Amino acid sequence: MEYETLTVTTVTPQIGGEVSGIDLTGPLSDAQVADLHRALDDRLVLFFRDQPLDHAAHIRFAKLFGGIHIAPSTAPWQAPGHPEVTIIHADADSTFVAGEDWHSDMSCDPEPPLGSILYLHTVPPTGGDTVFSNMYSAYDTLSDRMKAHLEGLTAMHDSVVGFGGITPEGMKLPRNSHPVVRVHPSTGRKALYVNRGFTTYIEGIPRKESDALLAYLFDHVQQPAFQCRFSWKPHSIAFWDNRCAQHSAIWDYFPQTRSGFRVQVTGDTPR
Ligand SMILES: [Fe+2]
Repeated sequence: MEYETLTVTTVTPQIGGEVSGIDLTGPLSDAQVADLHRALDDRLVLFFRDQPLDHAAHIRFAKLFGGIHIAPSTAPWQAPGHPEVTIIHADADSTFVAGEDWHSDMSCDPEPPLGSILYLHTVPPTGGDTVFSNMYSAYDTLSDRMKAHLEGLTAMHDSVVGFGGITPEGMKLPRNSHPVVRVHPSTGRKALYVNRGFTTYIEGIPRKESDALLAYLFDHVQQPAFQCRFSWKPHSIAFWDNRCAQHSAIWDYFPQTRSGFRVQVTGDTPR
């Protein structure tokens, strides 16, 4: 795919584009923003190198794609003075790192974030990669019989799975039902929308059938052929589309430090 204002290098055939020829710390032209929208639709996750963003630039970049999604359950990790910015940090004192299980960010919310923009300023010498998987491919490679079975089904997404036990006592954790297969509002393509990080059961079928079906689908989305893997450097950015991609943050670098900030773009009700 050719772009007018930037270069996008394909990471794997299924997913991922490394973007060069753009400076996200400064203002962007309308043509650059249009190319970035198109590249995100094409590649599902975009990677950028050497972009030392401050909070203002990070938020400004996110606002080119929508509003800012502020999830109440991430309140304990908000950057001081910047509720739009979530601190993502792990070091020698960490006993838990969020996001190891395959997931789509905050699918427990009524309107989950369209996308997430993660900027890391400090990374371990090796490790701490993020792996991304293409949920269009996950859907497309199901059998026609399985596609017919999933059509019209909804599933419960519960933040207790992802955040239970690590949020302050008494905090209300969201729980919402979404279609098992959603249609991407921009590309019109169908994507599988259940994930191990949040989805608890498929509604309207016996629980044992739901458990078996979800186990199969959770395994299916992890096929290496659907994936790409991003190796972080200081001041790298990953911007992924939660509507058609899942990801897993690998915590293989303990006791090293991995640290940065995440801003999320508002999304709509999955349909
Ligand atoms: Fe995540």
